[in-house]
Amino acid sequence: MVFLAEPDGTTVRLAYSSHGQESAQAVRALLGRPAKEIAFDIESAEQIRKVIRERRVLLLDAEEAVSQALPGELKTQAAAIVRALNTRWAIEVPLTVEEKVIGLLVVHSGDLDQQDLPAITAFANQIAASWQKARLMQDLERSLRELQRTQGELIQAQKMEAIGRLAGGIAHDFNNLLTAIGGYAQLLLERFTGSDPARADLEEIKKATGKAGALTRQLLAFSRKQVLQPRVLDLNEVITNMQTMLRPLIGEHIALEASLAPELGRVKADPLQLEQVIMNLAINAADAMPRGGRLILETDNVEVEPGLEPAAPELRPGLYVLLAVSDDGVGMDSDTQGRLFEPFFTTKPPGKGTGLGLSTVYGIVAQSGGHVQAYSRPGYGSSFKVYLPRMPDPDIPAAEPPSPPPAQGSRGGETVLLVDEDAAARDLLSKVLGARGYTVLEADQAETALAQADGRGAQVQLVISDVILPGGMGGEALAALLASRHPGMRFLFVSGYTAGAVRHGGLLPPGARFLQRPFGPEALARAVREVLDG
Ligand SMILES: Nc1ncnc2c1ncn2[C@@H]1O[C@H](COP(=O)(O)OP(=O)(O)OP(=O)(O)O)[C@@H](O)[C@H]1O
Ligand SMILES: [Mg+2]
Repeated sequence: MVFLAEPDGTTVRLAYSSHGQESAQAVRALLGRPAKEIAFDIESAEQIRKVIRERRVLLLDAEEAVSQALPGELKTQAAAIVRALNTRWAIEVPLTVEEKVIGLLVVHSGDLDQQDLPAITAFANQIAASWQKARLMQDLERSLRELQRTQGELIQAQKMEAIGRLAGGIAHDFNNLLTAIGGYAQLLLERFTGSDPARADLEEIKKATGKAGALTRQLLAFSRKQVLQPRVLDLNEVITNMQTMLRPLIGEHIALEASLAPELGRVKADPLQLEQVIMNLAINAADAMPRGGRLILETDNVEVEPGLEPAAPELRPGLYVLLAVSDDGVGMDSDTQGRLFEPFFTTKPPGKGTGLGLSTVYGIVAQSGGHVQAYSRPGYGSSFKVYLPRMPDPDIPAAEPPSPPPAQGSRGGETVLLVDEDAAARDLLSKVLGARGYTVLEADQAETALAQADGRGAQVQLVISDVILPGGMGGEALAALLASRHPGMRFLFVSGYTAGAVRHGGLLPPGARFLQRPFGPEALARAVREVLDG
């Protein structure tokens, strides 16, 4: 058996046992739960303390060893356990990695003596070395994925910056040229009398100049070179006032829903530009639902914590007002999502889209100090989230210090199974939960999650799953299946879609605990504790 030290450093836990199914079942019955669920206290079990703290190698009477290790109320089962394991002696050896004791190897047998110690010690060293290798490999893989992710983000940010500068420069010069063209056309118009055929041609020139001017203004908006007239305003009001205008724009076949947070904080923005943002997003949403669907506008007060998952470098920690525009239309693949905000990027047929809608949104939001993000999967619709900095509330004294997160508040020793297609997202969650004492298992889809959970039995206490998973089965169906097989198992759903979008889309049962991406480590730890304790 291999016992590994828990991150807290005061307990060890069974990590591997070579005993057969039958003995394991017997021991489980005697303990009232699987041995893997018991944390053995290092300080109160004398022989474990000797092995871990003093690095001693011990040959012990098995019953005495088991009895010492078990917590008080279970000590009486030691004799029965030793019988179930059909053992008489135990040799306990520290597992040492780079001078640090990470756990202990316990070998049970009916027949062991001092002469077996060197061989078993050598074996323990082999185990420790392989364990270390596996961990290094895992760390390496994680770092590599992390590097790839941040590199991707950096490239994306630089690309947008470069396109922005280019577009801004061109638009600026173009605007000057267009002013000249339009001005001279106007001068000529004034020279020709009402009946002259040249007038019609000049009118066409003027009209085209006007259209070109509108395009360059959108480009200027993208490159954040627009003159904005920001004022403090209530986003809910802007949305409410816009609904009558939006209705005919999106068409009869689409249901327009609004879920506006009461007591929404104020933002500082140009109201006309903000309307432009909402309109562009709403029109895109409608375009994505040619056969009808739901368009959901949501607002909320949100706090962005440091260490957000998934990391969005442009989204700085702080208080924001969130505006989300969601649809249950065709959705987008990752290639489209990577190019979404580029000017002139469009997947629509010629004449249908210019590809400037989202670049304008991007520019206006960025110029207002905010950030826009899209979440989507092909076939599952899209959520566009606009974060605008929340203005300080005049009713609340400004100097209110943010409450420090409780240092030990949101920890736990339970086993959590993470189900998410995205390895980088799993890495981040796993890191956060691992650091808080949880044992974390991972799966990339429903099938692997089922295998993991079934293999571990009651050991998995909580499953954190993305609402949408690759393969046939989604998060909800997975949870329903797991709940029927493992009563008592708890579930927490995560998704980049907004709560309104996933619930209305029927992707979640009512009452399910849901955490919206992006979220930070504190929010995650808190939600995990709430679901486990609730
Ligand atoms: N809600 C959405 N659902 C699916 N795809 C979308 C959505 N919003 C944007 N897209 C994709 O992003 C592309 C770019 O959008 P953008 O608004 O910038 O340009 P456009 O709608 O094609 O043209 P324009 O807005 O200039 O008329 C779209 O062509 C479409 O492929
Ligand atoms: Mg558009």
